[in-house]
Amino acid sequence: MSKRKIVAGNWKMNTSIKEGIALVKEIKLINSTAEILVFPPATHLYALTKEFKNNKMVLGAQNFYPKEKGAFTGEISPMVLKECGVENLLIGHSERRSLFNESDLMLKQKLEFALEHGFDVTFCIGENLEDRKSGKHKEVVIQQLLSGLDQTFDSSKIIIAYEPVWAIGTGETASPEQAQEMHHEIRKELEIIWPHNNIPILYGGSVKPGNAKELFSQNDVDGGLIGGASLNAKSFEAICHSF
Ligand code: PGA
Repeated sequence: MSKRKIVAGNWKMNTSIKEGIALVKEIKLINSTAEILVFPPATHLYALTKEFKNNKMVLGAQNFYPKEKGAFTGEISPMVLKECGVENLLIGHSERRSLFNESDLMLKQKLEFALEHGFDVTFCIGENLEDRKSGKHKEVVIQQLLSGLDQTFDSSKIIIAYEPVWAIGTGETASPEQAQEMHHEIRKELEIIWPHNNIPILYGGSVKPGNAKELFSQNDVDGGLIGGASLNAKSFEAICHSF
């Protein structure tokens, strides 16, 4: 089973629709050996479907509500995301956990719903600075991992993203050794649930062209989830070519 290599871009609430289209058009991925996945804002998805196909990039969505339709004012239906060409759903990003109070229970419901409805998922986990300083980081991350996953899930539909909260958007990156150490712990837990799985584990948190190669060369780091640097075509391309 060959290891999957993945670079995922998370645009968060950035770019206008016009800027988003221009950005995708500008990204040139000739000879990239990695699978490329991007999560634009939901407002942009419908307009981006064609551009993503042309560029062989997988379209993802940053958020959804785990119901097909109904009285959920302001929420996003996964079925309409599918209509827009979305294949992968981002679940558990630290900004959704902290700013929008998404609980472990809600995240589990989202994972179940997404997988039952044929989506791939990118499940994010990561400790905050306090957890790291008090030495509880492994415990916290593994608890987040295990509270979301279920042995009944199809492991081939899952990507894990380890994103230490203290490294997100701060310019401070986990060292390659810190990333490798945590990825190895995560890998061990995944092996217990699904022996011989091929689940990619991505690192996220201030990945840039200057540090991507070293991070991606670690044994258990299968790629990255990129925020800020995914908003610039040249930086994103350089990261996609960092394997
Ligand atoms: P960053 O964001 O690359 O800007 O640190 C990563 C993320 O939030 O996924």
